[in-house]
Amino acid sequence: MEPIPILKARRIVLGVTGGIAAYKVADLASKLTQGGAQVDVVMTAAATRFVTPLTFQALTGRPVWTDLWTPTSETALPHVVLGEAAELVVIAPATADFIAKMAHGLADDLLSTLCLSTRAPILIAPAMDAGMWAHPATQENIGRLRARGVEVAGPVYGRMASGLEGWGRMVEPLELLGHIRRILGRKGPLAGKRVVVTAGPTYEPIDPVRFVGNRSSGKQGFALAQAALDRGAEVVLIAGPVTLETPIGARRIDVGTAAEMAEAVWRECEEADVLLMAAAVADYRPAHAQPLKIKKGTGLTLELVSTADILAGVAAHRARHGKPQVVVGFAAETGDLLESAQAKLQAKGLDLIAANDVTEPGAGFAVETNRITLIDARGRVEPLPLMSKAAVAEVILDRVVELLKEKEA
Ligand SMILES: Cc1cc2nc3c(=O)[nH]c(=O)nc-3n(C[C@H](O)[C@H](O)[C@H](O)COP(=O)(O)O)c2cc1C
Repeated sequence: MEPIPILKARRIVLGVTGGIAAYKVADLASKLTQGGAQVDVVMTAAATRFVTPLTFQALTGRPVWTDLWTPTSETALPHVVLGEAAELVVIAPATADFIAKMAHGLADDLLSTLCLSTRAPILIAPAMDAGMWAHPATQENIGRLRARGVEVAGPVYGRMASGLEGWGRMVEPLELLGHIRRILGRKGPLAGKRVVVTAGPTYEPIDPVRFVGNRSSGKQGFALAQAALDRGAEVVLIAGPVTLETPIGARRIDVGTAAEMAEAVWRECEEADVLLMAAAVADYRPAHAQPLKIKKGTGLTLELVSTADILAGVAAHRARHGKPQVVVGFAAETGDLLESAQAKLQAKGLDLIAANDVTEPGAGFAVETNRITLIDARGRVEPLPLMSKAAVAEVILDRVVELLKEKEA
């Protein structure tokens, strides 16, 4: 896993309580640490029955805290010191017992005492048997915590350790990571800004079973949505037909055709501050989609017509209302890259265009990496090295933050 800029050097207390799902939280500790966070694990006595402190110590490279009463050379008051330094406290898994203690302000071990002393936001991931979760006592306790501003992720429906199915499964570590990013990013440079991102291909129907599509995987667009969330933006992700997980915190709108994409983009852009147009929208569609499947052997000639020009519509809205303030386009080309991209930038009135030659190894569709060249409206050309789509998204969002500042100045 590569470093995640939003996690870099951020101090997170990871509280582990005594549930079976504690084993999954070892993976979360590992992901957070690999992402660049400084993770201090605090375990309840019951938690140490499930996973040893040594596991977390090895994964985080830091001492693990289990006891309120044993002063160490580092501090005699770990509940205060750790709580004070923390930017976020995550309790995963959160047992019914621990939730009850938090709801009533009990402080009889290190983790519960820390939860009272800290001023950092608290995120909990409940995990328990469905009966325990549904019990009025637990529901009342959760209600109290929510009312106090504690963030609650899950639980989700599924199979539990007992073999039974129900509501009580902890959300998966990757999803928890998404919640952590959302909370850490809340006060970022795009806080209060609405960013619309488009991603993926469009499918233009030939008949009920066939379509004209393209090879876009949506990965670059989804990475852009995540990078915008990391900076505190309200994110609307308009996605063509792809099966990627929605970044936590994004509002996703699924579309199929270029016409649906256009309609969604125009509607969502009315109030948007930024548009990142990463989708590979079909330029042509079959003139007449057949209502019934075209039989094999009858021969088939497609007549294609142009689809709506989404960015032209955005430019028209922008000319009248000044929104979105920043529009970034993407140009996937197979030759004369810079000329085509520059022409598109000017024709569509873009602030920035990310051009990539999709025939280059490691760039373009379906792969995890990309090699792009950024061109801005002033004609500045910045070729970027081959990097992950997440890293490309970071560079683009940093440029978006700069462009917004310039426009607002
Ligand atoms: C095998 C086993 C699994 C358990 N799993 C859970 C669980 O998933 N969720 C839960 O709320 N309690 C679970 N419990 C009960 C808690 O461990 C128990 O309530 C304990 O007192 C919690 O302590 P803590 O909240 O201080 O960590 C389990 C107990 C055992 C023996």
